Amino acid sequence: MLNRNVSGQNDVALTFKDVSLIFGSGQHAVPAIDKVNFDVLDGKVTTVVGPSGCGKTTLLRLAAGMVPASGGQVLHDGAVVNRLNTQVGFVTQDSNLFPWLTALANVEFPLIVRGVPKEERREKAHRWLKLVGLSGFENHYPSQLSGGMQKRVSIVRTLIYEPNVVLFDEPFGALDAQTRMTLHHELLELWKEKKSTMLFITHDLVEAITLSDQIIVMTRRPGRVKQIYEVPLARPRNVFEIYLEPGFDEAYAALWQYFKSEIVVA
Ligand SMILES: Nc1ncnc2c1ncn2[C@@H]1O[C@H](COP(=O)(O)OP(=O)(O)OP(=O)(O)O)[C@@H](O)[C@H]1O
Ligand SMILES: [Mg+2]
Repeated sequence: MLNRNVSGQNDVALTFKDVSLIFGSGQHAVPAIDKVNFDVLDGKVTTVVGPSGCGKTTLLRLAAGMVPASGGQVLHDGAVVNRLNTQVGFVTQDSNLFPWLTALANVEFPLIVRGVPKEERREKAHRWLKLVGLSGFENHYPSQLSGGMQKRVSIVRTLIYEPNVVLFDEPFGALDAQTRMTLHHELLELWKEKKSTMLFITHDLVEAITLSDQIIVMTRRPGRVKQIYEVPLARPRNVFEIYLEPGFDEAYAALWQYFKSEIVVA
């Protein structure tokens, strides 16, 4: 367990440095986050948990340069994010697939935008779909895929252009427990292979423990960093029996203590 401010280490991919954001002004001002400080370490999985409305999505939008901070700075590889940050990938809660394109064409789309030649992008799209068990479904449209399959296409569509940081905004929230577990397993396998940096948002403490190296617990709005928790579980982890992994009970109990006072109304 470690409670710290921005570390200034050089293995940091993203830094939130005294970041505040107030939406609106005057009487209608909504302070969403307040002086948030934490680092997202290179090649690691960092997860943010916190009550609804505490500014989790806002943190991702700041990192992607979709919204400017009212105070403080977000740094990506040491450079201030002050415009749309095309170096990050963003997997949103909804799959947001193009309904008029097949799974293959959806996955190829970001490569078309980047001018990758047709043969190369087709080969890559087939390879990535295979990695998540979707060989044979390349020509299916999103409406012909299950929720879990759509989510796989959506994740692969983001990972295919190999952004050095991937932002995930509660991507598995709408899925059933078994599909989530399977996707946790697949995501960790992809992460192991690609060594990407992940910043993940979830409400679910078990999901946070399963996936993460460190967990940022936020207070209720305006969101502040309440605790930075280093997950004590070794890797690789058996996501299908995560409750049996050494360190799980301790991690859950500690996180619940931080989390519950932010959601339980006195
Ligand atoms: N574009 C916006 N304009 C005005 N207020 C906003 C805007 N976006 C977010 N907010 C406000 O900022 C606060 C934080 O919103 P945010 O979406 O980041 O919360 P969240 O932690 O992701 O919540 P949830 O868990 O429900 O997804 C909320 O009170 C919300 O009303
Ligand atoms: Mg949100």
